[in-house]
Amino acid sequence: MSFNIAIDGPAGAGKSTIAKRAARELQFIYVDTGAMYRAIAYGLLQTGTDVEDGQALAEALSGMDVSIGYENGEQQVYLNGENVSGVIRTEAVSRMASTAAAKPQVREMLKNLQQDLARRENVLMDGRDIGTMILPDAQLKIYLTASVHTRAERRYRELVERGESCSLEEIEADIRERDFRDMNRETAPLCQAEDAVLVDSSDMTIEEAVQRILTLARERMQEKTGDIE
Ligand code: DC
Repeated sequence: MSFNIAIDGPAGAGKSTIAKRAARELQFIYVDTGAMYRAIAYGLLQTGTDVEDGQALAEALSGMDVSIGYENGEQQVYLNGENVSGVIRTEAVSRMASTAAAKPQVREMLKNLQQDLARRENVLMDGRDIGTMILPDAQLKIYLTASVHTRAERRYRELVERGESCSLEEIEADIRERDFRDMNRETAPLCQAEDAVLVDSSDMTIEEAVQRILTLARERMQEKTGDIE
């Protein structure tokens, strides 16, 4: 049986960086489910689909096939066979992904793909509803968060390093708005699963957060092996 780790949490908590490193150490497959929502969002933008029109959305989704693969250990996401990993990190795609992720049809489409991967492989899957909806029986669930202010500061530094001009206040407001949308949508809202371990990375370095997750994972794996013996 595969061993599954679910990591959920809000945008900007360092989830993907931390999860990727932890997965590498554990030799687990890292699955970034946000990239799957982004691939669909990209497709919806390309086809100019009105996502508020249920029928148009259903038609657009029926023409989309999302899959993932790995190149040099990095997850790649494909939309109808085309690698779209390089074009899904724009602001427009982020906005559409957040809107599309609130639609039950979109979530349903990705649920099977995500559950199928977890059945076959030891995965560390990162998202918003992994511990609550997708892998409710995951052997380890982590809710990884950080304060809004810390997340805004991290994002601000990232953008400044890339030479982009931005305002810390605007970033903070944007994060609050995204959190609100992700936590208050009707379908699969972001929330901590009852049996998830809370890891608040506000005062941790990336390395400290990775180590915390590795310790939890190793403890849990040992417990499970103990159960079998
Ligand atoms: O983690 P991210 O920023 O790449 O996610 C993109 C969007 O997809 C974000 O608005 C939240 C949504 N999402 C989701 O609803 N459920 C997931 N399991 C992963 C992402």
